[in-house]
Formats: sequence, structure tokens, C-alpha cells
Amino acid sequence: MSLTFRWQSPSNIALVKYWGKRDPQLPSNPSISFTLDACHTQTHAIFEPGQGIQVLLNGEDAPNFVPKISQFIERIGHRHAWLGDYSLKVDTVNSFPHSSGIASSASGLSALALCVVDAALALGAPLQESDARREASILSRLGSGSASRSVYGGLVVWGATHSVPGSHDEYAVPYPHAVHPMFRTFRDVVMLVDVGQKAVSSTAGHALMERHPFAQQRFNQAHQHLSDLQSILRDGDLMPFLDLVESEALTLHGLMMSSQPSYILMRPNTLHIIEAIRAHRLSTGMPIGFTLDAGANVHVLFPAEVEQKAMDFVKQILAPFTKNGRYIVDQVGTGPVPLTDQAKPK
Ligand code: DP6
Repeated sequence: MSLTFRWQSPSNIALVKYWGKRDPQLPSNPSISFTLDACHTQTHAIFEPGQGIQVLLNGEDAPNFVPKISQFIERIGHRHAWLGDYSLKVDTVNSFPHSSGIASSASGLSALALCVVDAALALGAPLQESDARREASILSRLGSGSASRSVYGGLVVWGATHSVPGSHDEYAVPYPHAVHPMFRTFRDVVMLVDVGQKAVSSTAGHALMERHPFAQQRFNQAHQHLSDLQSILRDGDLMPFLDLVESEALTLHGLMMSSQPSYILMRPNTLHIIEAIRAHRLSTGMPIGFTLDAGANVHVLFPAEVEQKAMDFVKQILAPFTKNGRYIVDQVGTGPVPLTDQAKPK
């Protein structure tokens, strides 16, 4: 029997960063992210009795992605033994350009995990709907830690921490506390500073946290930040929100710079953009800030209410520091969508 499923799943941007892990893909500290909207992957997975893996990216054969998918299928095999009897064809399309420097692992692996869970349900796995989403988060995590957070919309927490009831190291949960409505439509404009391959992968970066001299302090700080966010998110305290999020981004890069061996992923234009954002916030009082993922691109964060002025600033002042003036306009999204004939891709 051939089983076919299609999901659209988004990327996410962490506000408190996951940095450091232990086997099997368990985080050294809790993290929280905004699920994105425009940056997503649409995946069509076909399972047929037999063996083998084939990957199509944007309609073209992509054999270089096969090892990553094989590793994923191997890692989740203990939970889904049936996969051993099926071949897999993955046909996947990213909404953002492959060369943009935006990691497709969170959106891509969560989309595939959602297809695997649907297939398991079709084969009679005893999962309720809420268990199914949790299972998709567990499987996504086994593929790539940050992917665990992409299976829900809005604010999502991964990693057990005392201030977030229900939080867990094995899967992500929707942020359970009150959130000011402003954060449901927060904007994230990704300034594409460097679009090449990263010099040091996230996976290698996580490994360097094992012997990092500041590791324990950092892990404690992440718990504290999650706890500090509770009133900030509830009350919509914008300036403390931006301060905390920026401190997280700079801490992440500070950890890279103080790893053994040390390395730097920011580029000169990353710093130009950061300084311009801070100067603009100081001189105008506009609530605009930034975060960084494990790369040189800058995510510019601001609430929808200042969109017009913020976008003028992005276009006039920040865009000249990017590669060919490129940036991606995104915002907080509502999470994955199953794609059927009724729900066509956006
Ligand atoms: C800096 O999830 O890409 O984006 O688990 O090894 O696949 P693996 O790493 P990955 O690390 C993401 C790190 C980060 C912070 C975050 O998303 O929380």
C-alpha cells in the first residue's frame, strides 16, 4: 500500500537560544521561539513497501540531501519500526531561497515528521490528535533540535524549566502563560548579510559547549531568562523584551567566540546593522530590536504597530548592508498546515 501525505511547516526564530545538547538530542537548556510564517517548507512524502530514499528539492533530484534524511529515518526508527519496510520519496519546496542562509532544517524536518506521524496513524498507531502533534515534535527534535518547536504556532518552548509548566526536554509545548496580543503578530525581517555555507555548523557549535568554561552559567541564565519573560510577555513590556532578546543573541555569539577553538560567525555588516538598530531605538524611542541565529544574518524584530516606519528604516538604512539589498519580510505565524485539495499552499 502506498501512503502519501503533504504538510507545510514553518521555520522558527529562537528568542532564548538552545545552545548545547546531550544524547539523544536533549537540550542543555530551555529555549523559546517565535514560529514564523512566510519562511516555510512544503513537503510531500510518499511511503511505499520496499527500501530506499529519494529526495526532490524544488522539483529536482537532490541526492546530497539523502544522507540527512537517512540519518533522520534511522534516528526515529526505534519509535517507528514500520519505516524499515517502506521506501520514502520526499518532494520538498522551500518558500525561501535555498542559498539565503536561512536554515531549512527546522521547517523541512518538522514537515517530514508530520508526514511520518500521519503515515503511522494511517497504519493504525494508537495516537490521539494532541499526542500526534507531540509525537511530531519528538521526531522533529531527533532530526534537529530547533525543529521540535516548529510544530506549533506562536511562542513555543522546548526544554524543561520550572517557570513553564508542562515543558519537557523531549518535545516542545506551546507557551502556556498569558501573552500580550502584540506578540502574536510581531514582525521579523531577516537581513541577508551572508548567504554562503556557515564556517562552523550548529551541530559542531553545540558540541563545543560540552567543555565550554562558561557552560553552566549560561544554562542557568537561560532558565532565568525564560522566567523573566513571563511578565514581559504578559504585559507587553517592549523595551525589556528587546533587551533580553538582544542579550540572548549576543550571548550566543559570545559563546562561539569563547569556545575552544573560538570562531566568529558575525560579519562586519552584521555589526553595522546591530549598531544602526540600537542607535535608531535610542534616538527615536521606536521599539525595534534584533536577534541572530547561528550565522551572520540579522533578524530585525518590531511590533506590527510600527511597521511602516520600521520598514522605511529597514529599506533606507539597513538594506545597504545586506548582500545585494536582500531581506525577507516575515512575522509570527500560526504553525503547520496539512496540505490537501481543500487547503492549497499559500
Ligand atoms: C542558534 O537545531 O540547528 O538556532 O540540533 O544540531 O540540528 P541541531 O541544531 P539546531 O541548532 C539551532 C541553534 C540556534 C538556536 C535555536 O534555534 O534555539
